[in-house]
Amino acid sequence: MRIASRIAANVPAKEGQFAATDGQVVAHLQKFLTAKYAIDAAYRSFGDRVRGPWRDAIVDHWHKHAEEERSQAYDLAMKIMGLGADPAQTSIVVPACEPTLSAFCRTLMEMELKAIENGRRLMALSGSNTSMKVLGENLVLMDTQHLDDLRRSLPTEES
Ligand SMILES: [Fe+2]
Repeated sequence: MRIASRIAANVPAKEGQFAATDGQVVAHLQKFLTAKYAIDAAYRSFGDRVRGPWRDAIVDHWHKHAEEERSQAYDLAMKIMGLGADPAQTSIVVPACEPTLSAFCRTLMEMELKAIENGRRLMALSGSNTSMKVLGENLVLMDTQHLDDLRRSLPTEES
């Protein structure tokens, strides 16, 4: 964390203390950011592939989710920048998935569940840094709403 210590020498201390070292918090934020870019790309890619009479409604809805994922990714990137690190990303992977609405929903639900775990982990690392904890809470809340939406979109056996 050479960059962080150089910045820390020139700016006031950050708000609150983390429950872990800055390096651990930044490493988790980077991992979380990678997952956020991946789920943003997955909503767009799966939306481009979906077929059926409800296609346009699904595409619109998933684009809204993707925009929210992008907004959360930006918040995470700004936290990484604020801690003096570089939110560089080089490889975003959309999981392989069969081209059915059911498979798309299940794959996205798995990704949302992992994002919720990432948010809970961020909260655990936040210590007395209130803004980081609230960021984690907001991420968990929104990804839980995405998960609920996907549960409602999941086709039943009869449909
Ligand atoms: Fe989400």
